[in-house]
Amino acid sequence: MKRATKTGLVTHKEEKMNLDIMVNRRDTDCAKWDGLKGVYGRDDILPLWIADMDFKSDSKIIEAMIERANHGVFGYPLGSKEIFQPFIEWNIKRNRLHIDDNWILTCPGVVTAFCLGVLLYTKEGEGVIIQTPVYPPFHAGVKNNNRVLIINELIEKEGYYTIDYEDFEKKIIDNNVKLFILCNPHNPVGRVWNKEELGKMADICLKHDVVIFSDEIHSDLIIPGNEFTSILSLDEKYKAITAVAMAPSKTFNIAGLSASLVMIPDEDMREKYKKISERVSVGELTIFGYTALEASYKYGEAWLDNVMAYIDKNFDYMDSFIKENMPIVKFRKPEGTYLGWLDFRDVFPKQKDLDDFLVNKANVALNSGRSFGKNGEGFARINLGCPRKTLVEALDRMNVLQGWG
Ligand SMILES: Cc1ncc(COP(=O)(O)O)c(C=O)c1O
Repeated sequence: MKRATKTGLVTHKEEKMNLDIMVNRRDTDCAKWDGLKGVYGRDDILPLWIADMDFKSDSKIIEAMIERANHGVFGYPLGSKEIFQPFIEWNIKRNRLHIDDNWILTCPGVVTAFCLGVLLYTKEGEGVIIQTPVYPPFHAGVKNNNRVLIINELIEKEGYYTIDYEDFEKKIIDNNVKLFILCNPHNPVGRVWNKEELGKMADICLKHDVVIFSDEIHSDLIIPGNEFTSILSLDEKYKAITAVAMAPSKTFNIAGLSASLVMIPDEDMREKYKKISERVSVGELTIFGYTALEASYKYGEAWLDNVMAYIDKNFDYMDSFIKENMPIVKFRKPEGTYLGWLDFRDVFPKQKDLDDFLVNKANVALNSGRSFGKNGEGFARINLGCPRKTLVEALDRMNVLQGWG
C-alpha cells in the first residue's frame, strides 16, 4: 500500500462539492448534534455551537482513509518526517511561513498542547495571561493546573476588537506572568492579528521573559480579503520564546481524528516540550490521524477555498439579515474563523436571559458569550460552518421577538 504523498501540493480540479447538501449527523455519536440534551437540556433545537462544520470533508481525504483502512493492519505507526512535508509546503504557499521540519512535534489536540505548555513553562502559583473574550479551555487550562489566570481584556469598539497593550504589560509585570496564550485568529471575536499587533505583543513578552504559546488552529480559516500572519513569521528574535500549535482539524473538518502539530524553533524549549509529552506519553497520533493530516494538506486546497467562499457568503447573508430584521443585535463580519460573535447586549444585557431566549424561545443552540469571559456577557457565538439552509432556519427562529428593530 502506498502512502498518499511524496512531495508537492496537488491542485486537483475536482468537481466543487455542493455545500448546500445537508448531511444527517444525528445518531452518529456526534457531540454537536447528539450532545445537545446534555448541554442545553433539550435535543430538539438547532445546533450552531461547537466548532466543527456540518460539511463532508474532502473526498480525497476520505479516499486516503479508506485506502488505509483497506490495508487492514493497524499496528503502531512511525510518524515519519515525510508526512509533514505537505504541511510545510502548504504554509510556504498559503501563509508565507517557513517551517523547519525539526521544529515539528505532534500532539492529539491543540488544547492538550497548550495545557502541556502551561505545565512546562510555568510553575504552580505563577501567572498565565490570556485575552478575553476567548475560547473557554484557555481559562480552564490555566485554572485546572493551579496557575493564576490573568486577564487582559480586549478593547471592543463597534464590534471590532483591539489590544490594550498598556494593560497587557502592566498585568505581566504585576502578576509574575510567565506565559501568554495567544489566540490567532482569535476565537470568538474573529480578529486575525496583523504583523504590527503581533510584534507589539511579542516585544512586551520578550522584554519580560514571557513565553508565548500561540494557538493558530484557525490559521487556514481566513475570510477572503484577509491575510493570516503567524507569529513564527515575525523577526527571528521572537523564536527563542515562542511555541505554536496548528492543526488540520478545523481546516478540513477532521477534528475527531485528533491530529495536531506543535512547532518550537528553540532547541532547548523543544527538548523540554518533548520530555513533558513523553512523561505523560501524549505525542503519538493514530494511523488515521497521520493519514488524514498528510492527505489534507496535500489535496485539500481546492476543497478549503470552496468552503471559505461559501462561509463568506454565509456571513454576508447573516449580516444583511440582521441589519434588515433585527438591527438591535450587533454583528461585525470576522476576518477569520467560521464563528460569528453576536452582540445582544441592547436587548439581553443579562446572559441568563439571552441563553434562555436562544434555547427556549428561538430553539437554537449557540455558545453562551459568558463562557468566553466576563466581557462576553450579553453575547452569543454562532457557527457558520453549515449549509445556508441551516443558517437561514436559525436566523428565522431567532427573529421571533416583537419590536426588535
Ligand atoms: C482556539 C481553539 N483552540 C483549540 C481548539 C480545540 O482544539 P483541539 O480539539 O485540537 O484540542 C479550538 C476548538 O474550537 C479552538 O477554537
